[in-house]
Amino acid sequence: MDKIVINGGRPLYGSIGISGMKNSALPILFGTILAADKCVIENLPPIKDVTGALQILKEMGAEVKMLDDTTVEIDTSHIVCGSAPYEMARNMRGSYYIAGAELGRFGRSKVALPGGCDFGSRPIDQHLKGFEALGARSNIDNGYLVLETDNALHGDSVYLDVVSVGATINIILAAVLAEGNTVIDNAAKEPHIVDLANFLNACGANISGAGTNVIHIKGVSHLSGVTYAIIPDMIEAGTYMVAAAAAGGNVTVTNVIPKHLESITAKLVEMGVDVIENDDSIVVARSGPLSKVNVKTMPYPGFPTDMNPQMCVLLCLAEGTSTLKEGVWESRFRYTKELACFGAEIQVDQRIAIVEGKGQLTGAEVKAVDLRAGAAMVIAGLAASGTTVVGDIHHIERGYEKIVEKLRAVGADISKITVGDDDSTALVG
Ligand code: UD1
Repeated sequence: MDKIVINGGRPLYGSIGISGMKNSALPILFGTILAADKCVIENLPPIKDVTGALQILKEMGAEVKMLDDTTVEIDTSHIVCGSAPYEMARNMRGSYYIAGAELGRFGRSKVALPGGCDFGSRPIDQHLKGFEALGARSNIDNGYLVLETDNALHGDSVYLDVVSVGATINIILAAVLAEGNTVIDNAAKEPHIVDLANFLNACGANISGAGTNVIHIKGVSHLSGVTYAIIPDMIEAGTYMVAAAAAGGNVTVTNVIPKHLESITAKLVEMGVDVIENDDSIVVARSGPLSKVNVKTMPYPGFPTDMNPQMCVLLCLAEGTSTLKEGVWESRFRYTKELACFGAEIQVDQRIAIVEGKGQLTGAEVKAVDLRAGAAMVIAGLAASGTTVVGDIHHIERGYEKIVEKLRAVGADISKITVGDDDSTALVG
């Protein structure tokens, strides 16, 4: 069992390079199913969710060849529809993009209902509404989502009742090869939706309006393979920006698109952090105290829900009472119990956390309850006095490449240890 150990209270100095975006990588990797050809995907983050997605594609019959650590060649010509292994697909939320991609290419699909982080109920009704509008029938059979069509898929208008990233992506995937035109209204506007549309358009699709709330897709008869580079991960970047603000010091976060980080930058500045935006890097520096602030998470371009736990740590380190409202998920505050171990005072009432900032935290033994919550525990450990031990770090490794190495390079006293069954420990990184 691996854990992360941090001796906190050291400011961070130096630069951290950002990897490709997890939430783009998964739809693009599964989107290669539609190309039925050879694609080369660059700037792929080497994280467990990506390894898992590549493994699933291999099991489905794709030829997958890593050209280097962050570049993969995938040939999906001989994929077998419905062959994604049940357990592997269940272990990853993003596996539900197989449904849209298989439906688009084969007119049918069978894939395990998705797992992923536990934020309360994670419905897929809007995905199904979109698939059904395009002419598919859906049913749940033994834990599988099964989609079928009698005739070819046809374009139609779909109005999403909630702004859903996953549903927007899945409907795009299903619609690119459908006959006629599809319009997705009240679509999500996240940068990774634009990234997926750019990838599919490079393959020959005809998608316009990605990044706005109305997306138009003109069906095309086939796609072909391309070489495509994934955009930088705004949540990874935001996590290190908050880490620098929490621990203090001066960190340059490189390989970013500053526009994607505007909501995070604005809140840091409001808290008294110095943030300088360059063309493809951001400098975050803090030496003075942090001011209280109110934050509400919302779909893009609002403050990202995937930065909720990391931001909460910063509010604990501010002086005064802040509020943090969760505007996307019904249950994203499970991690606050872990933060209490650091001496944080947080009252949660459904989707609102009231945080009594005390300007400091003390090291603790805690667990990562999900991916972003795990990153928040690491940030708390960097800022806290004394030693912090974070367990269940497999959650963190699903989404952060070399988090220990990247933080150590900017002066953090952080390491990964393996704890044996007999409680013996070994340093592993
Ligand atoms: C994706 C990300 C996740 C991130 C979220 C919001 C992946 C694998 N996951 O999740 O990390 O937190 O975007 O940026 O890329 N909803 C419905 N019906 C649906 C679908 C969603 O009611 O059919 C609701 C959800 O309960 C939630 C909200 O819509 O309240 C947003 O969900 P959605 O944007 O779909 O999130 P995911 O795509 O699952």
